[in-house]
Amino acid sequence: MKENNKEYITRREALKRMGAFATLLSLELSGVSSLASCANKKAKRRIIFFFTATGNSLFVAKLLSDDVRSIPQELKKSELNYEADEIGFVFPDYAASAPLIVREFVSKATFRAPYIFSVITYGNAAVNVCEWWNRFANEQGLQQQYIKSLLMVDNYLPVFDMNEQIKIDKHTDENLATIIEELAAQKEYIEKGDLGWFNEEGLERLRASHFPMTAERLIAINQEKCIGCEFCTRVCPRGNLKLTGDGIRAEGSCEYCLACVHNCTQKALTLRSPMAGRPGERNPEARYRHPDISINEIVRANQQ
Ligand SMILES: Cc1cc2nc3c(=O)[nH]c(=O)nc-3n(C[C@H](O)[C@H](O)[C@H](O)COP(=O)(O)O)c2cc1C
Repeated sequence: MKENNKEYITRREALKRMGAFATLLSLELSGVSSLASCANKKAKRRIIFFFTATGNSLFVAKLLSDDVRSIPQELKKSELNYEADEIGFVFPDYAASAPLIVREFVSKATFRAPYIFSVITYGNAAVNVCEWWNRFANEQGLQQQYIKSLLMVDNYLPVFDMNEQIKIDKHTDENLATIIEELAAQKEYIEKGDLGWFNEEGLERLRASHFPMTAERLIAINQEKCIGCEFCTRVCPRGNLKLTGDGIRAEGSCEYCLACVHNCTQKALTLRSPMAGRPGERNPEARYRHPDISINEIVRANQQ
C-alpha cells in the first residue's frame, strides 16, 4: 500500500510557516510545555484534546501544545481522568454544536485544571456554538474559562466547493495569533453567539438532520475508481468502512465528519443526496485537507 509520505510537521515548523508574527508568538508561548526554555519560569503543563477530519483542528491543536491527544484514541482507554495546569479542547463546529464523539468524551472523562479552554474551528457561521458548548460542558460538570471560535476552510461538502474555499482569506493566522496570546495570558472569555438569520428552532432542525447519521445513508462508493488503498477505512473515527471481497463497504453509526470522503486518494467516495435526482455535494472533484497536516496524521488520530 502506497502512503502519502508527507513528513510530520512539528509545532515549531508550523509556527514558522504561519509567518513572522509566529516568532513573537513562540515567545508568548514560552510558559507552555516544551517551548518553556526560560530557566527560572516554571513550565505549565498544557494538554490539548482534539478531534479532526480534515486537519484544521489538529493544525490549531499542534500550535497550542506539544502534548496533543486525539479524542478517538483517548476513548479507547478505560481510565479517563486527566489533570494538568491547563487543559484545552480543539474540534470542529458541526451544525452549531460539537461532534458526537467530542460530546461522548467530555461526558465520560473527568478533567482537573485551574484553566480550561476550547477553540472551535468553523468555516462559515459559528452562530452560538461557543454558548452551546459551554452549556453542554457545564451539564457534564466541566467548567471552562475560555471558549472562542476560529474561522478556517469550510469542509462541508454539501454546500461548499473546496476549490473556492481555499482561495478565501479568512484571516485565520491573525485570529489564531490573538487566541494564542489570550491563552498565554489565561484570559477569561466565553464568546457570545450571533444567531444571524438562524433561530433556535431552525438550529435544532439542522442538528436533527445531521445527527444521528448512518454511513449507509451518507456515503456513496464508486467501486470502479477505488484502488483499495484503505485510507478511508483508516481515517474513520468510528471504524465504519471495511475492505471486503466486493470492495469498500460503509455501514454503522456515522460522525458525519467527512474524513473518508475528503481523504480518499481517488475521489471514489461522494455524498449521497437527501433528495432524489439532486447532487449530494457542490463539487465532487474538490477535496480538502489542511496543507500542513498529512494523511498519516489523520490516520494516527482516527484509526480504530
Ligand atoms: C457535518 C458538518 C457540519 C458543519 N457545520 C458547520 C456549521 O454549522 N458552521 C460552520 O461554520 N462550519 C461548519 N462545518 C465546517 C467545519 O466546522 C470546519 O470546516 C472545520 O474547521 C473542520 O475542521 P477539521 O478540519 O478539523 O475537521 C461543518 C462541517 C461538517 C462536516
